[in-house]
Amino acid sequence: MEAENQGMSLAEQMNRRVRAQATSDILQFNAEISQIQDIVKLTLGEPDFTTPDHIKAAAVASIEADQSHYLDSRGLLQLRQAASDFFADQYGTRYDPERELLVTAGATGGIYSSLTAMLNQGDTVFIPTPIFPLYFPVTQLAGGHVVSIDTSADGFLLTPEKLQNAIESHRDSAKVVILNYPSNPTGVTYTQSQLKELGEVAKQYGIFVLSDEIYSELTYAGKHVSMGEVLPEQSVVLNGVSKSHAMTGWRIGTVAGPADVITEIAKVSEFTITCVTANAQYAAAEAFSQGRTDAQTMKNVYMDRRDFMLRSLRNAGLRVVEPQGAFYLFLQLPERMRDSWKFAYGLAREGKVAVIPGASFGAGGDGYVRISYAASMEDLRIGVDRIISYMEAH
Ligand SMILES: Cc1ncc(COP(=O)(O)O)c(C=O)c1O
Repeated sequence: MEAENQGMSLAEQMNRRVRAQATSDILQFNAEISQIQDIVKLTLGEPDFTTPDHIKAAAVASIEADQSHYLDSRGLLQLRQAASDFFADQYGTRYDPERELLVTAGATGGIYSSLTAMLNQGDTVFIPTPIFPLYFPVTQLAGGHVVSIDTSADGFLLTPEKLQNAIESHRDSAKVVILNYPSNPTGVTYTQSQLKELGEVAKQYGIFVLSDEIYSELTYAGKHVSMGEVLPEQSVVLNGVSKSHAMTGWRIGTVAGPADVITEIAKVSEFTITCVTANAQYAAAEAFSQGRTDAQTMKNVYMDRRDFMLRSLRNAGLRVVEPQGAFYLFLQLPERMRDSWKFAYGLAREGKVAVIPGASFGAGGDGYVRISYAASMEDLRIGVDRIISYMEAH
């Protein structure tokens, strides 16, 4: 061991998996474009609403009641009960709050703890792309191997055939398939029958479904169907209050799944954070129990914005996938400007609008950009005009 490290700096001796991860090119992009005067930023990945007052009041009350101690590492039971009731009423899933639910530091904490607990060295994780990019480094840090499945030719939905083919090619190491719906960055979502078909493939091969449903409350058409209803015995469902209750900074996520699986995931969460901030947990308990209609109010606003953006972009002859949830639009770039990084830098510098390059969401994302409509109507109006003018001029 000594010989191996000889002549290496301390930084070079650090964990290879960590060192192999690049720092986010999106952060670099964001820092650079933020210097541009008068830029309209349509890059935001979080609600532009503030946390509802009744939730803030619950947090204040908990501070005043001196709720300043460690809590159960799986989360405040009152919060787990409230989350369980919420998911039961909204999605018909049944989770025992004592054994089948865990509170994590945001859905991000759930992603980390779940993948770390699930993966052995060399296990394969199937990731339909384009997708929220966090799953890639977390899989690799946990020793897993990513197999991306490009969904751009299938309306950005993973088909059972493609999943089956991918599993067949990695049969010995197949461990997890990740789903995220409604999707960041495309806004598309799955119907119950599509989920059932995917669930059957997962069942056939005995692999986990890690289902990130953080945007479930922002489903526009019809009702959100949870993988926890479709395939409860093999699904680990991530959710939380970040998007539904405009609480990204509070860092509350939930992980729901079979009791013995949750036991292992809970260990990783406990080893990393002991427990989530007590006052944030009291706030989240209020959100799940008394904030049933909070998301609806925000959803109505997002829908108006989505309709406006869709109409404006389509009237200008541009191609956009119709989002059925979340607050993103995935705009297809014309053939002459398919390099999404080049487009995003050009649009920012010259057109003064910031959007996220599709390439940063994995295979199949290049040739697109993600536009967030978690922005004011005024910014959206200016932004969409500028995008259209920029595209017409190039
Ligand atoms: C698909 C998806 N999962 C998870 C997260 C992170 O959620 P949280 O803030 O609860 O960690 C995001 C945030 O943008 C997301 O888009």
